[in-house]
Amino acid sequence: MNLFVCRSIRSVEKDLVVRHKDEIVARYGPWTAHDIDLGHGVRTLGFDFEADKLARIVQIVADLGGAPFEQLRILDLGCLEGGYAVEFARRGAEVVAVEGRRANLEKARFAKEVLGRDRLELVLADVREVDVARFGRFDVVLCLGLLYHLDAPDCFELVHRMAELSTRLVVIDTYVGTGALRPFEHRGRTYWGRPIREHEPDASPEERLADLWASLDNPRSLWLAPGSLLNLLADAGFSSAFRCELPFEPDKPADRLTLVAIRGTRQALLAMPEASAALAQVRLPPLDRRRPSRKQRLSFILAERATRLVPKPIRRFAKRLLGRA
Ligand SMILES: C[S@@+](CC[C@H](N)C(=O)[O-])C[C@H]1O[C@@H](n2cnc3c(N)ncnc32)[C@H](O)[C@@H]1O
Repeated sequence: MNLFVCRSIRSVEKDLVVRHKDEIVARYGPWTAHDIDLGHGVRTLGFDFEADKLARIVQIVADLGGAPFEQLRILDLGCLEGGYAVEFARRGAEVVAVEGRRANLEKARFAKEVLGRDRLELVLADVREVDVARFGRFDVVLCLGLLYHLDAPDCFELVHRMAELSTRLVVIDTYVGTGALRPFEHRGRTYWGRPIREHEPDASPEERLADLWASLDNPRSLWLAPGSLLNLLADAGFSSAFRCELPFEPDKPADRLTLVAIRGTRQALLAMPEASAALAQVRLPPLDRRRPSRKQRLSFILAERATRLVPKPIRRFAKRLLGRA
């Protein structure tokens, strides 16, 4: 095939992709978040958006997924326009992506078709109904930008369900409540969180659906306090959890975290066997109120400076007197 024919085919392909994309936009509105390179110089959103968040999630899965991408089964909850799901499918993973809004899911479907990703399954469903019986289990569960759109008790239940759905890794990217906290009971435990308005109370179901990044229907959501979210992960059966800071997301708000939770086996201590049972009862307070170590406290620094004003022989004498020489 000569160069001219190749170029002509590519230009016809590009026209088809652009026309199909225009149809999607006419029907469901423009892309709002996920920028996917479709080849032929065509992109979904058309500009970089939250590339650092995608880079962080890809790196976490590469580093902690426990197997090459092609061997991973990944669940993407609340997949929006499929940016994360498509990225992992392109890397060879088997991906199931669940989204509650057709307007978002059809954009993901378009990207899947253009890129020919057979191992990506797109499901229109409510994440509150996702369970092992229907979907099976996954090496990696992604819960990105979703948990803080659910109200109590759904947010608690989703964390318990993610523990059931995962064999290894759950990645949660979420806002957390840092003030005006209220207690909520769930399965006999108390968790603290901040209720946040999702929709105007009188918004119609259509208006709620049209808000493409928000909760599906609940007018209020619960932003769990960081300590309570960690307590909840422990209660759900995760064996360890980590806050990811590298790769960097320099503009991420201070009240938004990327947490990685591992579904491992809890280890009892061999050196101090009786301590394990006590450690299992430890609960974190909702907010971290720990003080810095002694040498960085103002009281210590001032006391140290004041001591230096006293002549050295007198200090030595006083130390001897106090038995600290
Ligand atoms: C803020 S967006 C985050 C999207 C994506 N995961 C990301 O990190 O870019 C929240 C997404 O979750 C979807 N969503 C919210 N509540 C849902 C529910 N109960 N079931 C299914 N999808 C839901 C929304 O439609 C939206 O696409």
